[in-house]
Amino acid sequence: MWSTNTNNILAGLLAASWLLFGSHIIGNLLIPPFEPTHEAKANSTAPKAPAAKKTAKKAEPAQPLPVLLASANVDKGKKVAKKCIACHSFDKGGKNKVGPNLFNILGAERAKAAGFNYSGAIKKMGGTWSFADMDKFLTKPKTFMPGTKMTYNGLKKAGDRAALILYLRSFADAPMALPK
Ligand code: HEC
Repeated sequence: MWSTNTNNILAGLLAASWLLFGSHIIGNLLIPPFEPTHEAKANSTAPKAPAAKKTAKKAEPAQPLPVLLASANVDKGKKVAKKCIACHSFDKGGKNKVGPNLFNILGAERAKAAGFNYSGAIKKMGGTWSFADMDKFLTKPKTFMPGTKMTYNGLKKAGDRAALILYLRSFADAPMALPK
């Protein structure tokens, strides 16, 4: 009969699944998950992982910006500046692009390029671009100036920033004296 057959099949499936489930439990009882005995642990002669080598190359000690600037190289700065020229011009009378023209920027008041639509963040900050500020800004613009329109992640390497700043400084009628 149709319905009896169906019932039999269902009952069979149920029994089979219980069997599978049950054998799993029994299996676990018969073969407990492996765990080394305490003795085995204590006697273990496996060598410990070697401690991190002390001779590993140390990170360059952070040098103060004036020191970095004193030894920075303008040509290197020009290369680093390739990251800026999509958005900035440096020459006197250069156009504002996505970002403002940066002629005479070091020592200048912030947000003073004629005809550029600055964010409220930079206008609110005010002040002038010292070497130290420029260095902080270029490390991570959004950290130095939360809310800035400058969507640039920043330059991690202090040496790259110093070279870039030295290059930027050269675009001025009278480049600002280097910090001591
Ligand atoms: C994706 C475009 C973009 C890139 C790339 C970019 N900038 Fe900018 N930058 C801007 C914008 C937009 C502003 C205006 C910020 C505001 O209004 O908040 C700005 C502002 C500045 C300012 C402040 C100018 C002022 O008049 O006070 C400086 C300095 C500056 N950028 C330097 C750089 C340097 C150096 C680089 C290269 C490492 C760079 N920027 C890369 C878009 C960019």
